[in-house]
Amino acid sequence: MSYPYQINTIQEYRKEYEKSVSDPEGFWEEIANHFTWRKKWNSVLNWNFTEPKIEWFTGAKLNITENCIDRHLATKGDQPALIWEPNDPEAHHRVFTYNTLYDKVCQFCHVLSTNGVKKGDRVLIYLGMIPRLAIAVLACARIGAIHSVVFGGFSAQSIADRLRDAKAEFIITGDGAFRGQKDIPLKSIIDDALIGVDFVKRVIVCTRTRIGVSMMKGRDVWWEDEIEKVETLGLKDFPAVEMDAEDPLFILYTSGSTGKPKGVVHTCGGYMVYTNYTFVNVFNYQPGEVFFCTADIGWITGHSYILYGPLSAGATSVIFEGIPTWPNAGRLWDIIDKFKINILYTAPTAIRSLMSYGLDTVKEKDMSSLRVLGTVGEPINEEAWHWYDENIGKGNCPIVDTWWQTETAGILITNLAGVTPSRPGWATLPLPGIQPVLVDEKGDAIPFEIKDNPTGQQVSGNLCIKFPWPGLLRTTWGDHQRCRTTYFATYPNLYFTGDGAIFEDNGFIRITGRVDDVLNVSGHRIGTAEVENAINMHAGVVESAVVGFPHDIKGQGIYAYIIYTGHQKNDDEIRRDINMTVSRVIGAIAKPDKIQFVTGLPKTRSGKIMRRILRKIAENEMDNLGDTTTLLDPGVVDEIKRGKL
Ligand code: PRX
Repeated sequence: MSYPYQINTIQEYRKEYEKSVSDPEGFWEEIANHFTWRKKWNSVLNWNFTEPKIEWFTGAKLNITENCIDRHLATKGDQPALIWEPNDPEAHHRVFTYNTLYDKVCQFCHVLSTNGVKKGDRVLIYLGMIPRLAIAVLACARIGAIHSVVFGGFSAQSIADRLRDAKAEFIITGDGAFRGQKDIPLKSIIDDALIGVDFVKRVIVCTRTRIGVSMMKGRDVWWEDEIEKVETLGLKDFPAVEMDAEDPLFILYTSGSTGKPKGVVHTCGGYMVYTNYTFVNVFNYQPGEVFFCTADIGWITGHSYILYGPLSAGATSVIFEGIPTWPNAGRLWDIIDKFKINILYTAPTAIRSLMSYGLDTVKEKDMSSLRVLGTVGEPINEEAWHWYDENIGKGNCPIVDTWWQTETAGILITNLAGVTPSRPGWATLPLPGIQPVLVDEKGDAIPFEIKDNPTGQQVSGNLCIKFPWPGLLRTTWGDHQRCRTTYFATYPNLYFTGDGAIFEDNGFIRITGRVDDVLNVSGHRIGTAEVENAINMHAGVVESAVVGFPHDIKGQGIYAYIIYTGHQKNDDEIRRDINMTVSRVIGAIAKPDKIQFVTGLPKTRSGKIMRRILRKIAENEMDNLGDTTTLLDPGVVDEIKRGKL
């Protein structure tokens, strides 16, 4: 399969962009025509941003797995769809051709079906990066169940919150997961999450680490036993369930500025078209190439660019169970050599972390197969960009800096590999179909013009998108109002991204980071309110305020100011205990990097915490705190400054 909608020159990019703005429906319809639909749409787009109502390909019927698997069988059944590299470098990797993937997914559909899973049911998936995670996700999609994958680093409490919010009656997990030196006891964490939950009907448990697990009769079953039953019955093909284009495909929870994560909902038709279109165009993917995205399938990047984007394009996609720094910092480079990877897509945090080990881990690695490099999830600093370019790409590989979000399904702003120019630190140009605008604090659009003869003039503001694209979130699960207030009410008739940006008059866009109370730690999105809630649950904590601070490796670190009046006296012990509480409540990824004990927090007379001041102190910008005279107790600022860590 080649891609008739692949953009190969900058002139084509301009033409396609132009068309996508002047005739969005015609533009997306032409692309959608290249997919397998059981029935085509009655209308391409129905929308308003006030409710919001966003519908793409209304009335169309399809199953995304027919596009990700079945349609490739005749032409590339024997081509690798997924290559799995285990955590242990000495262990054997595995290759799943499209034929094998078809068989495995169908088989697991029978397992789901015999266990009572039906179209529309929610299935929570909590697994490490093993092929069965991909099989479970795709089998849910094939049967029409709504998957909700929870990253293996989240705690029992976080799982329980998501389980209840989605009312998921089915869980797919494993005994444990390998990640570097760690064995994560998945089933035991699920058991903790299930205390007091009475609506879960079935937990399907696969074996991986084979640590001891408890199996409750009547509720818990082994994956392998269920497969055996299906084999004994001789069940093979499983016809894909017909889905409406607007039926939910999955729920993925993500953090916002309030304490409770939101269940972002993506639907079958638009999500498929958008992830495929962006995969093919951003990376300029050529049939036969091996694509390696190092994200976890528990995040949107893994959903869109390990599974649905690449598979719908008939690509070969690598799943890596381990981490880049284990058993040593050369692991990614070994994998590139081993599988002759053509495209590497990773996070700036991983690059910065690997940089810190020096060049010894890169030397003598054959990475000549690489053609394109990509980054995602957070801003990339220029030093890391150049290191990636020189030492990994050897100056020969375009780097795509891809900006997008869980809510957007796929990449929105980026250069196109080898097609449009790159600039370190800049995401550069919007993809066709994406119409970005900047607004000021009051919500007024900032006037801006792209010039034929640019002068380098720049404007900055809050980044919004003014027209829908097929991958835009449809709702937040169980609470449509929340979707409206979070994304569509701040600025009327605009989707608000939560990011700040700079536009330059050559059309380039630079993302400057979140303007709300969301942190980006190692490319993971964490709400400050969520971390504060967790800290405040610790005995002896009276109040806390959490802000981000620049961190050499993680991009942003978590700085917590805490008022503690408990009886413990040793500060380091209290810090350790608070970290334990945060790990229990959210997961280890949300542990503060720095905890400063304070006797008060800077508040306005109306009781609002002045985070701006705390942020400046955490960033070491002590002399630039702005006006502190409106504070209830200005003296508290000096104390905090003196105690800065
Ligand atoms: O602040 C932006 C940052 O990550 C946020 C989205 O996080 P999440 O939904 O977890 O999705 C991450 C993977 C797409 C954005 O609001 N972000 C993402 N990509 C970039 C980025 N910031 C700067 N440059 C990027 N390329």
